[in-house]
Amino acid sequence: MVNVLTVLPSFFSLVLASSYFERHMRLHERRDGVPEGFTNKGPAPGDVTLRFRIALVQNDTQGLQTKLMDVSTPRSPQYGQWLSKEEVGTFVTPKRETATAVNEWLATNGLNATVLSPFGDWIGFETTVSHANVLFDADFSTFVHDGSGKSAIRTLAYSIPASLTAHLQLIHPTISFPAPNDVGQPVLRSLAKNVLRRNITSAVTPSTLCDAVMTPECVQLLYKIPGTLASQSSNKLAAQASFKNLQIGPISGLLEILEIYRTDLSPDKTFTLQTIDGGTNSQTLDEAGVEADLDVQYTIGLASGVPTVFISVGDQYQDGDLEGFLDIINFLSGKSAPPQVLTTSYGQDENTISRALAYRLCNAYASLSARGVSILFSSGDGGVSGSQSQSCTTFVPTFPSGCPFVTSVGGTQNFNPETSAPFSSGGFSNYFDTPWYQTTAKAAYLTKLGSTYAGRFNASGRGFPDVSAAGTNLEIVWRGSVMNVDGTSCSSPVFASVVSLLNDRLIAAGKPVLGFLNPFLYSTGADALNDITTGGNPGCNTNGFPAMAGWDPITGLGTPNWAKLLAAAGL
Ligand SMILES: *[C@@H]1O[C@H](CO)[C@@H](O)[C@H](O)[C@H]1NC(C)=O
Ligand SMILES: *[C@@H]1O[C@H](CO)[C@@H](O)[C@H](O)[C@H]1NC(C)=O
Ligand SMILES: *[C@@H]1O[C@H](CO)[C@@H](O)[C@H](O)[C@H]1NC(C)=O
Ligand SMILES: *[C@@H]1O[C@H](CO)[C@@H](O)[C@H](O)[C@H]1NC(C)=O
Repeated sequence: MVNVLTVLPSFFSLVLASSYFERHMRLHERRDGVPEGFTNKGPAPGDVTLRFRIALVQNDTQGLQTKLMDVSTPRSPQYGQWLSKEEVGTFVTPKRETATAVNEWLATNGLNATVLSPFGDWIGFETTVSHANVLFDADFSTFVHDGSGKSAIRTLAYSIPASLTAHLQLIHPTISFPAPNDVGQPVLRSLAKNVLRRNITSAVTPSTLCDAVMTPECVQLLYKIPGTLASQSSNKLAAQASFKNLQIGPISGLLEILEIYRTDLSPDKTFTLQTIDGGTNSQTLDEAGVEADLDVQYTIGLASGVPTVFISVGDQYQDGDLEGFLDIINFLSGKSAPPQVLTTSYGQDENTISRALAYRLCNAYASLSARGVSILFSSGDGGVSGSQSQSCTTFVPTFPSGCPFVTSVGGTQNFNPETSAPFSSGGFSNYFDTPWYQTTAKAAYLTKLGSTYAGRFNASGRGFPDVSAAGTNLEIVWRGSVMNVDGTSCSSPVFASVVSLLNDRLIAAGKPVLGFLNPFLYSTGADALNDITTGGNPGCNTNGFPAMAGWDPITGLGTPNWAKLLAAAGL
């Protein structure tokens, strides 16, 4: 006995030196079963290479969120004092011991990570399935989505050394799945709805047109948006025009739509195209994407004269679903002067993404919002059933709309009177709490709703969308013809254009830009929006949430009223 006791300590220390990490693994993330629509086809081939990303714990995530609240809340003394890149870095750059601990673990296992983000809070490395299974105590398998046939290699659980739990927030791709409908699907209601209406000839006069078809001119009339040219060259509007090269060729429809609707804008009006992750810049007419043409035509066509950047995110990460969402934000966060407005019409159901990954993506939005960037996302096109219509019993919130640090834009229909569009996704997040700016508006709605739909949604979650804009029958020029499109994909670029025009005036007046919008919208800005009070967003065999006076989870606070927004912004 005595011998054993005295020998044991030295025996343990030998083992610890060589495989300390492996012997103290702790379950880090797990998912309850395979997401709806996916089938487990068995173990993934051991020799397949996977590209992993690790989110390192940030220095002071809560500190950043508190600071963001201070600089974005109109009554705060710090309102409008947006942070520099370096100031954001003090909050999000991981502590030195964090980076050291994780890199040492990787090195012990023969791996060498590269830094993927401007603040070093994301690192990446590649390894094989068989190595990853050992390293993370995981069970990587091939999952196939029954409807689309798409396959993804994922695990339902993974572990990390216990000593790293305070340093390593998550590893991706592990338990987050691609969007079931499609990867990075544009939030367009249904491509079948898009009918070629006529060949391009000339504009139809708005008075006869706007009840049936929305054109840039109709949107100007509806929201009283002026067509006068913006004057500030430092003001930039960015649109994520294409994703995974699904929507390449963004430019072809531009000149045509300007020739029809905006003959006042210079015909040689151009824009900047930015590609990341191997995104392409095809100008071939028959490669033009509907989503991209829509973004181009309803930003340049409405944000008259605002310098516009279109971002084409490629599919360099073959497996990439959420990587593109992260990469575009990291790309913009790395710039000393990022565009002041970003609009994106892509999204997916919240429940496909792990909580940890949703939080980290949301933190990335907080970092960029704190720089004074208004980040707008379409809310989705499935009413209460998620980003696209699907069968369901409980309501399905969408991402990134549930993240409190973005502005979610729902859809409306009809010119006069404007009412909510039934497809407009809205509801309450299961991941994110009610943010400070929304408490009163959300409580007022829930009081009016009473016990309706109790148990079908999470009443403690962040409500979305925040605002709305025209989302039905937007006329676009696509591959040389004119067609109408529906979806909250229309609404986000429209609202973003209004914000960009307001920013142009603010910069000209020597004032800070609007930046992170929500605290402004839910306070000073609330009365500057047209409150939409009719309709609902059906789904899951229900009529969906009813629109009501004040904020509601279909149209948010309402649609833009230019003159009132100018006044609310202090102009
Ligand atoms: C980490 O955060 C703390 C608290 O916000 C701050 O005092 C410190 O300077 C930060 N560290 C770095 C390296 O920026
Ligand atoms: C890791 O890779 C980088 C280049 O990607 C290289 O500069 C560095 O020396 C490598 N470190 C180790 C320990 O192999
Ligand atoms: C547009 O014009 C082409 C030929 O110029 C014709 O083939 C096509 O049918 C027309 N489309 C519509 C929708 O009128
Ligand atoms: C409800 O939402 C909150 C966030 O506000 C979350 O913490 C909680 O887990 C959610 N409940 C369910 C059952 O998803």
